[in-house]
Amino acid sequence: MTETVSFSYQDLLENFDWSVSERELGYKKGDRLNIGWMCSDRICRLGQAGKPALIWEDHQGREKRFTYNDVRVLSNTVAHFLVSLGIHPGERVCLFMDRVPELYIGFLGILKAGAVAQPLYSAFGDESLFVRLCNADTAAIVTQRKHVHKVRKIRERLPGLRHIVVVDAGDAPLENREISLEMEEAAPIEHFDVYPTVAESPSVLHYTSGTTGQPKGAQHVHYSIVSQYLTAKCVLDLRPEDVYWCNADPGWVTGTSYGIIGPWANGITQVVLDSGFSAERWYKFMEKHRVTVWYSAPTAIRMLMREGDELVRQHDLSSLRHLCSVGEPLNAEAVLWSRKVFGKEFHDTFWQTETGCIVITNFPGMAVKPGSMGKPFPGITATVLDPSTYEPLNQAGATGLIALRPGWPSLIRSYWNDEAGYQAKFKNGWYLCGDRASIDADGYYWFVGRDDDVINTGGHLVGPFEIESALLEHPAVAESAAVAKPDPVNMEVVKAFVSLKPGYEASDDLELEIMNYIRKRLSPIAMPQEIEVTNAIPKTRSGKIVRRVLRCREFNEPVGDLSTIMDD
Ligand code: PRX
Repeated sequence: MTETVSFSYQDLLENFDWSVSERELGYKKGDRLNIGWMCSDRICRLGQAGKPALIWEDHQGREKRFTYNDVRVLSNTVAHFLVSLGIHPGERVCLFMDRVPELYIGFLGILKAGAVAQPLYSAFGDESLFVRLCNADTAAIVTQRKHVHKVRKIRERLPGLRHIVVVDAGDAPLENREISLEMEEAAPIEHFDVYPTVAESPSVLHYTSGTTGQPKGAQHVHYSIVSQYLTAKCVLDLRPEDVYWCNADPGWVTGTSYGIIGPWANGITQVVLDSGFSAERWYKFMEKHRVTVWYSAPTAIRMLMREGDELVRQHDLSSLRHLCSVGEPLNAEAVLWSRKVFGKEFHDTFWQTETGCIVITNFPGMAVKPGSMGKPFPGITATVLDPSTYEPLNQAGATGLIALRPGWPSLIRSYWNDEAGYQAKFKNGWYLCGDRASIDADGYYWFVGRDDDVINTGGHLVGPFEIESALLEHPAVAESAAVAKPDPVNMEVVKAFVSLKPGYEASDDLELEIMNYIRKRLSPIAMPQEIEVTNAIPKTRSGKIVRRVLRCREFNEPVGDLSTIMDD
């Protein structure tokens, strides 16, 4: 499939240096660097003040438009408000909202105030929220009326949470520590002294799940923009006239790196749809706004495939020029389907919360091998390592651990308060992604699977420990194990194994009750789709649950040698 490209992979690869990006951003080593300023004031100074930055629509079709100057002034307004509340530089300010304009613009405002933005997915229940706010010792949370009840439930357990900012309070009564900020009604702050952050100042704290323990806070710095700007430009192929749509919610890293920073650092117009999935609504939205570049995810693509080709044909989607995907393996069928119905291929991109930017990708113009993640982005040195020696495998087709040479701008600098966890991600001078892949003779990467027990459901990572802990709080549950189970649309879903306390009997009602309990306390994505009551949860001699046995059973895979694990 041929396409006109702005950059050639080969050209960019030869003599690649991240300083290309620094120069384009007008940044020199040692300068102040603030993502909030870069994504708004800088674009206005480039003569783009009147260009639309954000076109927002909700599920009722209500629309709001913001130019780059609006984004500049409104993010100043949020920053000024936070400073007037006494928020100090470096303090964590959580964004806990649906995809409303305040989320996108507030993100820049927090950064302009020198504080750290901590975006959390608004479908989180009170326990998921508590764990993350408690861990980060968050000073303020910015939220909506519809979500404030979850904050009220946990605020007494969070003495450090000084302010609960409600962006749409209207005349609703506010309680202790709550304060209203109606961004567009507040006195606009034309000039704000952006806090003088530098390259290594902390910027964004995203929580991500691992195998062990509660989620970890992945700490990014302002210098990450150097990676995000260039990868957005070259991989998403953003051009000045584009209308760009990223499906991801800014509660997850794709929604900040490529749903805020990447496009706005490039001065691009982006559209946001604040609504759940509906194939028809999505196609209508793209048709109406003449979307040119679309960044989506395999589960969404599979859901669209299910709705059929006819629906696509009923819409004029001829504006689409470039399609990308992230979050899970993009199956070859999805690529072939997109060729057929859109006349364009989805380009798979691989990366993580920790990498901050796309690291392996099907570069525009490069031949797509359906099912492959493509090749390392120029500036990223990648390989696959032997899992026992941590040496590069250097053998086409051999499966190993995906490893990246540290040093690109947007790699996280730490896990919040977890130095040991951070150090454990590095071996032999390589950063380990925690995934397995093989590299073919042409240098293309093929994803094999995760190297841990983390469950990837619909592109969202959920940690088994968080689910198991919540299950144990249910009065009927004595022991629990959460593992992935294959699913045709979401790739994986959560399956829970539980043993019951004396006096409880397995029943459909009890299973439903447990599922709902998890949905409310954690989130709909963490909710087990199936619960199996068993008295035989496999354990090591010291009593640790061995999820691998259960997982392999779900996937019909051989369990392999467990002798060393069982002795733990
Ligand atoms: O397992 C890989 C999978 O998602 C993980 C990262 O998840 P998260 O930190 O939440 O960030 C998601 C969006 C950047 C990876 O370790 N993953 C991500 N992209 C792909 C993928 N698996 C296969 N193919 C991909 N393209």
